Amino acid sequence: MVLDARKRKLLGIVFNLGFTKLLAFCSVTPKGNSFNKYSSKLPESPREKFIYRGKHFISEEKNRLAWETFQRKNFFGCGKKFHNHKKIISYHRNTSSTHFHNSIKINMKMSSTAAVALAIGLVLGAFSGHCSSALEVGFYRGKCGRAIDVEQIVARVVKEKFFKNRTIVAALIRMQFHDCFVNGCDASILLDGSSTEKTAPPNLSVRGYDVIDAAKTAVESECRGVVSCADIIAIATREAVFWGGGGRYEVQTGRRDGFVSQASDVDLPNPSMSVSDSVAAFARKGLNASDMVHLLGGHTVGVAHCNLFQDRLYNFKSTGKPDPDMESSLLERLRLICPENSEGTNATNLDQNPQSSFIVDNSFYKEIVAHRGVLQIDQELAGDPITQAMVKTLASDTNSFSAKFGQAMVKLGAVGVLTTEKQGEIRRSCRAINNLGDIISDFIAPPNGTVDGNFFTYTGFRVVGGGPPADFKILKASMAQFPALNGQSVSYAVIEFPSGTTNPPHTHPRSAELLFLAYGTLEVGFVDTKNNLFNQTLKAGDLFVFPKGLMHFQYNADSQKPALAISALGSANAGTVSIPSTLFTTGIGDNVLAISFKTDVATIQSSRLVLPPGHEK
Ligand code: HEM
Repeated sequence: MVLDARKRKLLGIVFNLGFTKLLAFCSVTPKGNSFNKYSSKLPESPREKFIYRGKHFISEEKNRLAWETFQRKNFFGCGKKFHNHKKIISYHRNTSSTHFHNSIKINMKMSSTAAVALAIGLVLGAFSGHCSSALEVGFYRGKCGRAIDVEQIVARVVKEKFFKNRTIVAALIRMQFHDCFVNGCDASILLDGSSTEKTAPPNLSVRGYDVIDAAKTAVESECRGVVSCADIIAIATREAVFWGGGGRYEVQTGRRDGFVSQASDVDLPNPSMSVSDSVAAFARKGLNASDMVHLLGGHTVGVAHCNLFQDRLYNFKSTGKPDPDMESSLLERLRLICPENSEGTNATNLDQNPQSSFIVDNSFYKEIVAHRGVLQIDQELAGDPITQAMVKTLASDTNSFSAKFGQAMVKLGAVGVLTTEKQGEIRRSCRAINNLGDIISDFIAPPNGTVDGNFFTYTGFRVVGGGPPADFKILKASMAQFPALNGQSVSYAVIEFPSGTTNPPHTHPRSAELLFLAYGTLEVGFVDTKNNLFNQTLKAGDLFVFPKGLMHFQYNADSQKPALAISALGSANAGTVSIPSTLFTTGIGDNVLAISFKTDVATIQSSRLVLPPGHEK
């Protein structure tokens, strides 16, 4: 269809908004044939090394150094260009790219739906610049002392990991995409848990968590509590791209880590999605169609599992036939890797050019132009009117990909970032939000409940003092009984002791206990880690502290009078480990206990029957 004048004008405006603001990057794309990596079987073996051809480098170390030197020459920045890590003070603005003209030409022929999808993509994308104003290059400069360069620390870890296993390049690129696309770049993908993002089906094959853990550990050891996991993902990915041959872009930092990670939020595009639906999905994240095309260039490295493209080999769109858009020799090859009706767990390289499957270059586009795309979305990218022209340009221009990919990664890295203390934290471990007991907001409101004076009031102690206690009893006001305590690091317990009763030896793993004796007398004591017993006879009005985690007890030795104690604990959920019940009611074997107590099994068995009541707090 030919667009009418009004639509052409709209597209013209949209293109101008979308493209003329983009900064050009001076690019030198690494050439796969200079540093040829080979792969004979799939998935690739970590033993495969760079081979430097044409010179006499034979040792791995020499190859590594050669690759390193080569890589240093290919350094791209966010609006700046670096050579050999030295800043060149020049900015380039791209106002008339061939890429832009080609796209316009092709788009004159696109369907109106595609035009609308592209227009939405470009308009939304145009509003979000590729360098986030909330983030900045070098955010951590000087934040860990003048001598410590956070990016260098991460770089060291990534480099080390890369030379052990070059597939971390693909792993990290994908991890950053999957993190940023779901509720923004907040490291939510890193959180462990039974229903966190990493448990959602599209994330089950995401790899590289160990790299981030190692980088975080290295950073924390030199600069504690300053660098976010979200920034570590961004820095590590930039380093991985560099080592993968994709040049160097300047990474923006200043993100904080999110508190929320839910599998149900994972709304990633799937490989059978149409290009226009995918453009719309990227637009919802503030990324335009050209960002999408450049980012999908990430499929120049890494693997796809058969179950994600098997339909293309045997029953494309329920036709009972393979996808006609797949080149016949590739079809034959992939059918060998992914036999019909197999489980689909085998994998193959996304970039089917064996010379370049592990190199971040434009080979992916060349492959899809030659109908050698593995995923449906990749192949459709080469044929869809929205993206066809961009793909062709990228396929034919070996030099421009690295800069464009870097630029798109920076823009991806700015999606939905959290930058204020209220929005996010600096996690201590990338796998968990910081201690739930830390007060990170005024209070933690219940999911659907009302927050008013009643929420902050606990009435469960009104029964106390109604008369002498008949039984030993502990009344608690901890988080379970009094939800307003969540996050406040305090709780109470009231303990009633009829005469002659005891609160048997126990510990509170998460808190010290400060006991106030309201009336009566009480024998109390605790044992330290050197087995010293510290005990006391308390009178009404006395306070006694049981240090955190140490075994302690209370006993009302008075044969006439009851006692009542009130204990304050420094945790909303101090926890109790009661020694008698822990030993005798948890299924620890009779033999283990008999040997431990230097007695016989019969004695242990009889002990199990006579557990004293009221052995917990
Ligand atoms: C329409 C959007 C996208 C779709 C539908 C898609 C789909 C897929 C699929 C199905 C796989 C194979 C996963 C597996 O077999 O375990 C994959 C792998 C990969 N994707 Fe994408 N992807 C998209 C966008 C992106 C983007 C934007 C990037 C980079 C920024 C990216 C980077 C990667 C990488 C590097 C791998 C290989 C991972 C590895 O080897 O571990 N993808 N993608």
